Amino acid sequence: MLKKLEVYLEKNLLKLPTGLSAHLNRTSDLAIELAKTHKVSTFRCKLAALAHDFAKTYSNNELIKIVKINEIDCSEFELSNPEVLHGPVAAFQLDKYISDDFSMFNSIRWHTSGHKTFDKENQIVFLADKLEPYKINKRPELQYVHDLAFQDLENAVLAFFEIQFEFLKTQNIDIHPESIIYYDKLR
Ligand SMILES: [Fe+2]
Ligand SMILES: [Fe+2]
Repeated sequence: MLKKLEVYLEKNLLKLPTGLSAHLNRTSDLAIELAKTHKVSTFRCKLAALAHDFAKTYSNNELIKIVKINEIDCSEFELSNPEVLHGPVAAFQLDKYISDDFSMFNSIRWHTSGHKTFDKENQIVFLADKLEPYKINKRPELQYVHDLAFQDLENAVLAFFEIQFEFLKTQNIDIHPESIIYYDKLR
């Protein structure tokens, strides 16, 4: 199934806006490096990294519509903060490739918030999305988390949350409840 996902992603990556496909490629490059370091599948991390933002092209209204029509399982928080729905929608749209693969599903579904069930692959995709070179350029304070990710994934996720929660507070953005649950579990 994952071979088919790879073919699908490679074909459709070219159809995405260049800024988005560049982010997916940078995320995939970092995910591969982290996968090598932590001795998990580079192939699986690469695919999840390439797929995570495939639904990012939809507007908030379109995302809400897709979630409602298809009865995709989303929380009240997610419905009132629809920019986070692109994870659940991407996981839904790639369902035929990943439905039997809980970890691949998790990497994509929960890439924005993180989730308490995360395994190493999920942590790698989550961190690579947040720590790829363009993101570090924009927020150099994340360099420390990037370096930590090569030592210890759990501590890197924890360090990311600590920086991110402060950042979100200054921007007046609500923290995803699943991030708080996951942070409390790791602490
Ligand atoms: Fe995203
Ligand atoms: Fe992303």
